Amino acid sequence: MIVCVCHRVSDRDIEREVRQGCGSFEELQDELHVATACGRCADCARDTFDVARACRPTAAETLASNAARVIPIAPTRLAA
Ligand code: FES
Repeated sequence: MIVCVCHRVSDRDIEREVRQGCGSFEELQDELHVATACGRCADCARDTFDVARACRPTAAETLASNAARVIPIAPTRLAA
């Protein structure tokens, strides 16, 4: 869904920024320029940002998720 028509910013763009560590709405505006022209999208953009932040996994959840993806590698034999 397009959130900001002026800058063609979608909800996915906002969610991606949050996943990549965007910590504030002002930082989001610096990155995507959302809600910096006509301003009609400001409420929706802020709501989308807040929901994305609330749904963002915690550091512990991210670590657990990444640990589950590690593929153990068997030790190689060294030639004697
Ligand atoms: S619609 Fe986002 S600034 Fe105009």
